[in-house]
Amino acid sequence: MASPPRDQAMSYTAKQYDFRDKPGDYARLAQELTGLLGGESDRIANAANTAALIFAALPDVNWAGFYFLRGTELVLGPFQGKPACVRIGLGQGVCGAAAVQRRTLVVPDVQRFPGHITCDAASRAEIVVPLLEAGALIGVLDIDSPVAARFDEVDARGLETLAALLVNASVARVPR
Ligand code: SME
Repeated sequence: MASPPRDQAMSYTAKQYDFRDKPGDYARLAQELTGLLGGESDRIANAANTAALIFAALPDVNWAGFYFLRGTELVLGPFQGKPACVRIGLGQGVCGAAAVQRRTLVVPDVQRFPGHITCDAASRAEIVVPLLEAGALIGVLDIDSPVAARFDEVDARGLETLAALLVNASVARVPR
């Protein structure tokens, strides 16, 4: 989204998505995100708006945000939700597992995921999408839900598309 003129306040209202047509709603969300990121290449700014859009649009979500790879750790990036743990080692928790495996992990019940890291006790289900830039891991998108089995393969594909939009829009690298 281009910067508004100084005398024009920016106002954004998240469209309502009911996700009864999940693939369709994810396609509309991808379109909306494309517009939101258009023209901006700063990765932190774009990650902040991506987290805000996902948090506003997806029902039954209590945390949505990013961890970026710094050395051998994932470090907390822009997010919406309660304050969260700052550093996650590769291989630790759902985030670290998805990062090492470089694949999206859908966890229906976090209490049954060995090593799950609790940031918000309300979280029951989680999905983590690795962020890959030209094949290199740069971080993860992490979303939590208070509803067990909240995420499925349609969410996985839809969120992978949103994550790819963020990676491709943002040429500025987060310092590692
Ligand atoms: N539950 C995550 C930690 C991050 S918080 O959910 C925001 C994990 O196990 O990696």
